[in-house]
Amino acid sequence: MARILTGIQSTGVPHLGNILGAIKPAIALSKDPRNESLFFIADMHSVTAIKDAAVLQENTYAVAAAWLAFGFDTDQNIFYRQSDIASVCELSWYLNCFTPIPMLENAHSYKDKLEKLGNGNKSKINAGLFTYPILMAADILLYDADIVPVGKDQKQHLEITRDIANSFNHKLGDTFVIPSSKIQEEVMTVPGTDGNKMSKSYNNFIDIFLPDKKLRKSIMGIATDSTPLEEPKNPDTCNVFKLFHLLANEEQTLEMRNKYEGGNYGYGHAKQALYELICEQFSEERIKFQQLMNDKATLDAELKKGAEKANAIASEVLERVRKKIGFS
Ligand code: ADP
Ligand code: TRP
Repeated sequence: MARILTGIQSTGVPHLGNILGAIKPAIALSKDPRNESLFFIADMHSVTAIKDAAVLQENTYAVAAAWLAFGFDTDQNIFYRQSDIASVCELSWYLNCFTPIPMLENAHSYKDKLEKLGNGNKSKINAGLFTYPILMAADILLYDADIVPVGKDQKQHLEITRDIANSFNHKLGDTFVIPSSKIQEEVMTVPGTDGNKMSKSYNNFIDIFLPDKKLRKSIMGIATDSTPLEEPKNPDTCNVFKLFHLLANEEQTLEMRNKYEGGNYGYGHAKQALYELICEQFSEERIKFQQLMNDKATLDAELKKGAEKANAIASEVLERVRKKIGFS
């Protein structure tokens, strides 16, 4: 039995890119009976960026609702909120004491921010961002995780986790399971409405959970060129077609390709077809998401159930660590 663990930041409502690139593949992985999955909402990490209680709380619920709407099985697996497991902070402190400062100075999360702001603006960077990789190491080591599936951008954080765990094990004796990363190199990149990678930071995302009218409007806003309606169009350079292709079956894709190449088919028609496909394909998930967002008590109950299961594992591991440190 392999224990799979991954964290999802609560920085907004998960968009189509998050759904196709992270949520659906992770749920598929969790269905393998040889795995036990721990998926959690990294709401403490989000505090490095979000300083508004209502926003943070709503984002956390939205992330939970999205994972549940897409069918994550919380009876077979463990789904929890990081901030419900206070012991992660205690472990994080111990790990701080095994982390050399240059390791953090070299972390991309901090370095990129410093580069963006300029060296003279260090005071604008909070220490939470600096020690972000240590909290992430605690997230992983607290549950004896074997495998951590993450995107390429998180690879360095995994290496830091392994380095800290090895340093602890070396100095105080075998304590932590050394996790392997599962870097999703091949994961599809879902394009955004402007053709760049769909991302919250570029504001080019499609939120499939929006009400019909707003969803349609955001799809109608996808950037296209100005080829006139009657002329043939190249599907392979069109953002609408790329998104359609990611969701449609072969037959639907071929039909759409023929329409593009045949002329007398406008981008407005293609956008309408994409909108209809999204509505059809995610009809259940969209309803479920809204139901859950209107029923925070169910979300709270799910997260509480997960927190109890997560805490049971965490307290055992933490006890092991405390003994090694000299506290017991
Ligand atoms: P964002 O760029 O919107 O801030 P995150 O960095 O929070 O998204 O990503 C959360 C997860 O969703 C990661 O596993 C990431 O690989 C995946 N993801 C984000 N955007 C896309 C995309 N456009 N295509 C595929 N996967 C994506
Ligand atoms: N830093 C990760 C991200 O931004 C989220 C995260 C927090 C995480 N703790 C984790 C991922 C532990 C995997 C394991 O995507």
